[in-house]
Order: sequence, then structure tokens, then C-alpha cells
Amino acid sequence: MELELLKPEVTSIINNDHHNNDEKMQSICELLQAKVSTYDWVGFYMAHPSEPTLHLKSQAGIPTDHKVIPFGKGICGQVAVSNQNFVVPDVHAQDNYIACSIHVKSEVVIPLFKNGKNIGQIDIDSNTIDAFDDKDEKFLEWVNAQVASII
Ligand code: SME
Repeated sequence: MELELLKPEVTSIINNDHHNNDEKMQSICELLQAKVSTYDWVGFYMAHPSEPTLHLKSQAGIPTDHKVIPFGKGICGQVAVSNQNFVVPDVHAQDNYIACSIHVKSEVVIPLFKNGKNIGQIDIDSNTIDAFDDKDEKFLEWVNAQVASII
């Protein structure tokens, strides 16, 4: 699936006045997981307002036990601290990694900024090795900006 072609669908979810923000974020996870063959698990983790922990807000794919992740732990927790995109071509080469499924081979985590503050992230797991490139990063930065505009 050409990622650019998904932008109108994401925009339509964002602009749908009949759904609240939780429903919109859930719909975005489901859309991306269903339409992009290498996106096997898609979720948004959001930072707790006062504690250094990430909390799973919405997800599509196999349910995960990792609903709360401390800052610094795993790929997600590292992005909460670094404020940088983290592309992992091979998760088995990472020491600080939290496995959600034995099938996952690569992962990307993109921070979500609101007014310049890192308030959460989109996390995508793939069962394909080295599944993510610059196009995914740019597209997911765009998705996060759309979400930031409504929260
Ligand atoms: N692999 C992530 C944990 C979240 S699961 O992928 C759903 C990590 O290392 O932070």
C-alpha cells in the first residue's frame, strides 16, 4: 500500500465529528494495521501527565501485556526520553527491547509532539525484518501531527 494514499483516510478519521478522540486514535491504528501489509501491530502509547510512564491508549493487532512502560525501558521508553524517531531493523540486535510477540522482527517508534512537548508515540511492530524506511518515518510523523491537532 502506497502510504500517501492513506492520508485522505486518516484525515477523514480526524475530521469525523461523530467520534471522540479515543475512537479516532483507535480507528487510525486499525486503518494502518489493516492496510499496510508490513504493519502487524500498531499502537499509541501516551505519557502519564505526572509520572515517567507510557500508557497504551489504543492498538490494533495481537493484544499486548505491555500496557504500561517506564521511561527508559524498551524501544518505546527510550523514545520517551530521547524525543527522537527510533527505527529498529532487527529487534533481536537490541539489548533494551521489550518483546510483545515472538513473531516481531522489526519496529519503529515515532514521538508525538504537542506544542513542542513529547506527550506520546506511535509504535509499529512488523513480522518482516527491516520493514521500515524514511517513507514510513515521514508518514508516521505526519500521522502524529494530525493526532496532535485534535488532542
Ligand atoms: N517492543 C516495545 C514494547 C511495546 S510492544 O512492541 C507492543 C519496546 O521495546 O518498547
